[in-house]
Order: sequence, then structure tokens, then C-alpha cells
Amino acid sequence: MSESNNDFVVTPWEVKGKVDYDKLIIQFGTQKINEELKQRIKSIINDELHVMLRRNVFFSHRDLDLVLNDYQSGKGFFLYTGRGPSLGMHIGHLIPFIFTKWLQEKFKVNVYIEITDDEKFLRNQEYTLEQTRQWSYENILDIIAVGFDPDRTFIFQDTEYIRNMYPIVIKIAKKLNFSEVKATFGLELSSNIGTIFFPALQIAPTMFEKRRCLIPAAIDQDPYWRLQRDIAESLGYYKAAQIHSKFLPPLTGPEGKMSSSDPNSAIYLTDDKKTVAWKIMKYAFSGGQPTVELHRKYGGNPDVDVAFQWLYFYFEPDDKRIKEIEEEYRSGKLLTGELKQILIDKLNEFLEVHRQKREEAKELVHVFKYDGKLAQQMWEKIHE
Ligand code: TYM
Repeated sequence: MSESNNDFVVTPWEVKGKVDYDKLIIQFGTQKINEELKQRIKSIINDELHVMLRRNVFFSHRDLDLVLNDYQSGKGFFLYTGRGPSLGMHIGHLIPFIFTKWLQEKFKVNVYIEITDDEKFLRNQEYTLEQTRQWSYENILDIIAVGFDPDRTFIFQDTEYIRNMYPIVIKIAKKLNFSEVKATFGLELSSNIGTIFFPALQIAPTMFEKRRCLIPAAIDQDPYWRLQRDIAESLGYYKAAQIHSKFLPPLTGPEGKMSSSDPNSAIYLTDDKKTVAWKIMKYAFSGGQPTVELHRKYGGNPDVDVAFQWLYFYFEPDDKRIKEIEEEYRSGKLLTGELKQILIDKLNEFLEVHRQKREEAKELVHVFKYDGKLAQQMWEKIHE
């Protein structure tokens, strides 16, 4: 799925270069979330849109209009998202979860969250299954901390829930052929056979209900959904709908995405106050001028400034305030160090609350995985 005629690459495993999101919409065959669609959502929920929709962080979709039709006609829909557990989650990983939680709150729908401990084990030679299972637990705490409804949310780990999913998984696997999956995910003949089978597991939850499934995720996961849409109807299910986000840029600059493998590119949810301040002051790519004098004269460029971009994505949700910050930075009134300090304060405030909720989540893991209303129903169900 790499786009070799571009100077950027977007696959489920890597994002390289400066992503041109308009181009990606054309290449992936998705649709832009336009003003009309946003207004429609606003009138249905009768409330303000989430900041990530207002600011086009979620910028692209497939069949979101049909999801809204189903909602309005009373048929309903469900939400599905997931996480491939590796060491720590960073603030970019939270984006789809924060947004999914908001959708759940506004539409009062079921949410299924897949934890692919199998995927991470299969794709990384150095990871053991014990490790990916341990990280699953740690990541689940971060996900619960976002605030999902315990009665309407089911969090499941592939290696535990596989028994209930297996019938639908093999039906999906039988529809996908080897060369298609190999090409879609850039696998090699020498790849282990688990990696060729795995996409059936990521597709399976789109068929947990006989209603339309809406998937909030960054656009890197799209190849799975394209395969799903080719086969879903032949199995008697809906083509999955998606709502795609952009990538939170890494600390190092506007190219690529924040990635766990480079600790200096990411702020982890477990980073303490001092680490956050130090990383941002030291590494956050600046759109400012090299000296204060030049900055006062020419101003900064918020379009490439990572501190500004993070505030814009999520951490300064007040539209009036973000506009002020933008104008002051462009005019040179606000210096790079001051802008970074605004972000440090906002991030540390956010992470402090997150840490607290993460602690409380320890009591809730069992509820989301086994005892909640939806979880119980799901353990009683075999997906045929
Ligand atoms: P994973 O663990 O790589 O990523 C988890 C979620 O975070 C999104 N994401 C980002 N969003 C914004 N900015 C970033 N820098 C950034 N980096 C990652 C990803 O798009 C994803 O939504 N195979 C999947 C796990 C999975 C899944 C799913 C994801 C299973 N079922 C259904 C989405 C929907 C994975 O390894 O995600």
C-alpha cells in the first residue's frame, strides 16, 4: 500500500514524509468530511461538534452519511476501534479513543475495542507473547481512563476472545486470497504465516452485530477496511464505515507520525511533568525564527510548529484562544519558548488527570473485559 509516486508513505506500519491528506483521500478512495456533513451531525446530536471534527483532525470518511441514515431511521449502528499493544501508549494513540468515546456519548451506542496481542507478537521477532499480553493490560488501563461507558463497551484481547470469534474469522479468511493480502500489507513469501492470517482477526469485529459498523481510527488502518468492504456483503454483513483522522505529528517535525519506537519523538502517557517539559523544550520542532529579534520582526509559522499543532489537534479546545495563539505567534508577539510553555502546561494538566483515571481504571478492567453488560453478552455469543 505504499504510494511510491509520492514523497510520503502511509501504511499500517509506517508513515513517512509530509502527508498530503487531500491526495490520500483520492488515493485511498475515501470522502472528505465536508461542512454539510458536519452540520448534519451537529443537528442530529443537537450539540457542539467535538474539537477534532471542528478542526478537521477527523477529515475523511466512508459511508458516514449511511451511518447517520441508519441512526435516524432507528436501525442504529455500532463503533469499533482497537490497539496493537506495545510498550507505552503515546498521546497520538489516544486520539481515536477520545473521539470514539465522544461518539458513544452522543449516539449512545456499543463500542468494541480489540486488543491485538497476537498481531504485535506475530509482527515483531523480538516480542514474546508474555510481553504483548502484559502490555495489553497496561494499554487497557489507558483506554479505560478515557471514560467509556462500562455497560456499552467491550474490550477484548484476541488471544482470549478467539474462541468466540473463530467461526467468523475463518469465514473471512476463506474469502481473502493470499496474493491480495500479501500485496495489501507488503508481506514477503518469507513472512510467517500468522501475519497473512491476521487481517481476518482485525476484520472480524466489524461483523459483531448485524448493523453498520463505524470505525474511528487514523487513516493508516485503512487497508484492512478496504479488504473488509470487498467481502462483507457476501457474508451477509454491512460494509464497514470509517471516520479517519490525521496523524499527530512527532515532536521532531511535521513529517511522519508520532511513533513509540522513537522515545524522543513521542510524549508517553506515563511521562512525568519534568520529562514532558524537558522533551518539549529540547525536541519540539519550532516554526519560530532563530533569534528573538528576527522572530519579533518576521513572526513564527504555526503550520509547521509542533507545539502549535498539538494545541490545535486537541490540547487547546477553546476556538477563541487557539486563534489568539495563532495570531500572536504569526505576528511575532508570542515567542517559541512561550508557545512551548503553553503546551507544557496544557499537556501536564491533561496527563495528571489521565494518570488519576488510569489508577482508578485498575478496578474496572474486569468490568470492561468480562462483567459489564455488553461484555457478558459477548462472552455468551459465538460469532457465526
Ligand atoms: P496501533 O496500536 O498502531 O494504533 C492505535 C490507534 O492509534 C492510531 N494512531 C494514531 N492516531 C493519531 N496520531 C498518531 N500519531 C497515531 N498513531 C497511531 C491508529 O490509527 C489506531 O487507530 N492494528 C491496530 C489495532 C487495531 C485497530 C482495530 C485499530 C485492531 N483493530 C480497529 C483501529 C481500529 C494497531 O496496531 O493500532
